[in-house]
Amino acid sequence: PLVLHITGARPNFPKAAPVMDALAARGMRQLLVHTGQHYDDNMSAVFFRELGLPHPDVNLGVGSGSHAAQTAAMMTALEEVMLAERPDLVMVYGDVNSTLAASLVAAKLGIAIAHVEAGLRSFDWTMPEEINRVVTDRLCDLLLATSADAIAHLASEGVAADRIHLVGNPMIDTLLRQLPHLDARAKADELGLPEHYGVVTLHRPGNVDDPAALAPLVAALRDVADELDLVLPVHPRGRARLEASGLFEHPRVTATDPLGYRDFLGLVRGSAAVITDSGGVQEETTVLGVPCLTLRPNTERPVTITHGTNRLVTPESLLAAYREAVAARAEREGAVPPLWDGRAGERIADVTVGFLAAR
Ligand code: UD1
Ligand code: UDP
Repeated sequence: PLVLHITGARPNFPKAAPVMDALAARGMRQLLVHTGQHYDDNMSAVFFRELGLPHPDVNLGVGSGSHAAQTAAMMTALEEVMLAERPDLVMVYGDVNSTLAASLVAAKLGIAIAHVEAGLRSFDWTMPEEINRVVTDRLCDLLLATSADAIAHLASEGVAADRIHLVGNPMIDTLLRQLPHLDARAKADELGLPEHYGVVTLHRPGNVDDPAALAPLVAALRDVADELDLVLPVHPRGRARLEASGLFEHPRVTATDPLGYRDFLGLVRGSAAVITDSGGVQEETTVLGVPCLTLRPNTERPVTITHGTNRLVTPESLLAAYREAVAARAEREGAVPPLWDGRAGERIADVTVGFLAAR
């Protein structure tokens, strides 16, 4: 049988790497598609160099665009690839437009679909990711979940139990494998950061697209920067508005381009706290034991709060939450959700092999 993996955006790459690795170890025939959703070297190629992913067999080169234009371009190109290759299973990751596009195409061609990171729900329909997740899960045959809450969501949506598997978190497989390569000071020294610093990432449309929503976030970050040096690897989505906001003029704020995986997680590992609106970073800080302050009204990853180091904050609560989280840091160290143990890729491969054998 042939498995066709679909990737395209930054968070897909650390999820796909351990799955492809484990399937390769089981002798599975596989092809890797890169849709081209992300294309800058530091948003894409650097992850292939660092994470041991094979070079994509196909790069669709779709690039940026409106949701409809980008999703449509991916669907047209993916249909050709799937018709030519006739995979037995299409494996999709996470909640990005590449995930949704591939699921729609595969479903209509009658090709089985496996979703890695199925069942996460923010219940916030203003997020494009929520739409992508819910539609993908409705279409797919194999629902591979990172946490028990995801299983409960899928069950309540009527998904048959025999399609759902709790497999753990492949993004954490990658993190645990890369730990020996994460130098907590290398990038910090290069950037001239002091011993105590915080890492900030912002790219949610709800935070960075509207200057009126961004202004209170910037004011809150400036308040934290009065107490703690902050480094921001700036996602291309928010770059122009963050530059215009004046945040980078604060003397204790350092902006950089997006960082490669090892540089970024090395910085996170050595940091006093992380302030973010990323999905994956909430999970990685949980495993690294670094306090995480999530600038969002909700999270589709509640285990990072119940088990991990994460707290949801508003611009108004950020400064106090930061002080409290840093003071309480030791209490939260070492608590990791079940099956976030570095073996999710192997479990996914075993379930996949079993699924294909039964067809
Ligand atoms: C996408 C995902 C989001 C994920 C994020 C991870 C969707 C709907 N959103 O958001 O869930 O959290 O990736 O990073 O799929 N751009 C560049 N260079 C690149 C890629 C993008 O400059 O290599 C710029 C372009 O101006 C583009 C904008 O970033 O229009 C947004 O890119 P896009 O992929 O549409 O969405 P993200 O905000 O990156
Ligand atoms: N990441 C990175 N460099 C950066 C910012 C993030 O390598 O400058 C990594 C991060 O550690 C995680 C992944 O990119 O592995 C998460 O991607 P992102 O925050 O873009 O997407 P989300 O998880 O919010 O969908």
